[in-house]
Amino acid sequence: MRLNDVTEGDCIQVLNDLEPGFADLVFADPPFNIGYQYDVYDDRRGKADYLAWTEKWLAAAVRALKPHGSFFLAIGDEFVAEHKVRLDALGLTMRNWIVWHYTFGVNCSKKFNRSHAHILYYVRDPKNYTFNPDAVRVPSARMTTYADRRANPVGKLPDDTWVLRPQESAAHFQPESDTWFVSRVCGTFKERVSHPCQMPEAVLDRIIRVASNAGDVVLDPFAGSGTTLAVAKKLGRQYLGVELSEQYADGVRKRLQMIDFAEKAETEGPRKRQPVESRRS
Ligand SMILES: C[S@@+](CC[C@H](N)C(=O)[O-])C[C@H]1O[C@@H](n2cnc3c(N)ncnc32)[C@H](O)[C@@H]1O
Repeated sequence: MRLNDVTEGDCIQVLNDLEPGFADLVFADPPFNIGYQYDVYDDRRGKADYLAWTEKWLAAAVRALKPHGSFFLAIGDEFVAEHKVRLDALGLTMRNWIVWHYTFGVNCSKKFNRSHAHILYYVRDPKNYTFNPDAVRVPSARMTTYADRRANPVGKLPDDTWVLRPQESAAHFQPESDTWFVSRVCGTFKERVSHPCQMPEAVLDRIIRVASNAGDVVLDPFAGSGTTLAVAKKLGRQYLGVELSEQYADGVRKRLQMIDFAEKAETEGPRKRQPVESRRS
């Protein structure tokens, strides 16, 4: 198994070829079957075909999960119910049905604009799984609005509707600012790499912090632009991604490399300009 890397290929085949039970946390953001323009994957399949494929990849991903592992699945309105039924049937237990509300959603002309996705949070063993509440606390309204002395000074657990304003993301616990929301990653954003549906790092930051510990293995069967792997790497987890497209997999490797460069630059500090004479020699 090539840990801390992305494997190019079909996740069903790749995962079924691996030993079962290696992943502490699976985050899966499969194609929603709504006609996105991917590099090689056709995102407009017949319903029966899409669901037959869904069953296969879900089984392969659940097989990869450790006995005390957690599974997060991001999915759209169209097929969330079908995914839930199948995850239940695979023997997992649901902990939350999270709704992630985002800004910069899809603009519609004959219905309301799309501004949310579902994140189904499941565990294999509801009596024994990793959940780190202190890693993801957010300020409560008692703290920020009502100045209530009964408020827990370290904050509360996030609700199951995620807006991900900075003060609601563990990485950006800034009680003084409540005006900035984490939106979808738009084309003009600094975080954006070349992929049509890149997840924001803040979403993965919360999931990986709460449901895994340093050194744990995080698996993403649909790596895409590599958001899960990038955040796992930054948080000191091991990771494994699978991606069908060669072009996207190359992009993931570059993104992971950039983290190494950034970390190296940070430890070395600002580069000093060499004197002109030594540059000539
Ligand atoms: C919704 S995107 C994932 C986006 C990712 N979460 C991110 O933040 O960039 C789904 C990805 O799954 C890939 N994909 C589709 N079928 C696949 C398969 N059978 N195995 C592996 N990857 C696949 C597509 O190429 C696409 O990049």
